[in-house]
Amino acid sequence: MRVAFVGKGGAGKSSLAGTFARVLASTGQRVVALDSDPMPGMAFSLGIPQTDAGLPDEAVEEYDEDGRRRYRLREGLTGTGAIERYAVRGPDGVHFLQLGKARGPRWNNTAQHYGFQRILDDLPGPGWSVVGDLPGGTRQPFFTWGRYARAFLVVVEPTPASLLTARRLAKLAATESAPRVVAVANKVCDPQDGGRIAARTGLTLLGSVPFDPALRESDRLGRAVLDHDPDGPTATAVRSLVTALRREMEPT
Ligand SMILES: Nc1ncnc2c1ncn2[C@@H]1O[C@H](COP(=O)(O)OP(=O)(O)O)[C@@H](O)[C@H]1O
Ligand SMILES: [Mg+2]
Repeated sequence: MRVAFVGKGGAGKSSLAGTFARVLASTGQRVVALDSDPMPGMAFSLGIPQTDAGLPDEAVEEYDEDGRRRYRLREGLTGTGAIERYAVRGPDGVHFLQLGKARGPRWNNTAQHYGFQRILDDLPGPGWSVVGDLPGGTRQPFFTWGRYARAFLVVVEPTPASLLTARRLAKLAATESAPRVVAVANKVCDPQDGGRIAARTGLTLLGSVPFDPALRESDRLGRAVLDHDPDGPTATAVRSLVTALRREMEPT
């Protein structure tokens, strides 16, 4: 499957995407986890030591087209080859590749951005799953960083601001030539939250993840919740999400 997590900043995209990628990998899938958010996130939930590094300079080459400077992967380097070569191997065998993290006002990663996008257009094929952690926001996740996704999981907190973001994403998704878009309720405290989120966003609810103090604690410690509390509420809920999405995407 090819899925990407979208939603408002702070909704829980990184926490859930990293956990989801590992759960999928632990079932024997080959998984590439892609973090295209310039703010730190997915590495922690995967349990991979955080670095700022994205693609190394050597992976991307500059060329000139009609007098304009453009970038592509180095000659002979395919998207799959770049993943094999540059992705970090994490727990459960997950391959992890990130765009690279923002490092101050003069941070220029134009070459990395284009290199990363070339990889998005040439991801490994059958036998691989892709799980993406997209930046917060509206248009860009769909049109740029999430273009490989066959399903968008909109992470929604039961708060007005998060619901409003999700409604906007749902509308945008409807105009797209349309991967599946479903809601994941997160930080749920009330059994009615999931239903409310589905009603207010118009999205099908894939599942709900409870508010989980152990997830907060694992974050504070810089650990993956799957290592900190492997059978706790978040791990259990994300396993159910994987099962539900499999049912949804790969009907038998
Ligand atoms: N189910 C949950 N229960 C409790 N805290 C959560 C839950 N999901 C996410 N959080 C917390 O919310 C904050 C934002 O989560 P994060 O995954 O970084 O969001 P995003 O990537 O969408 O910005 C983190 O402190 C995280 O620990
Ligand atoms: Mg994040």
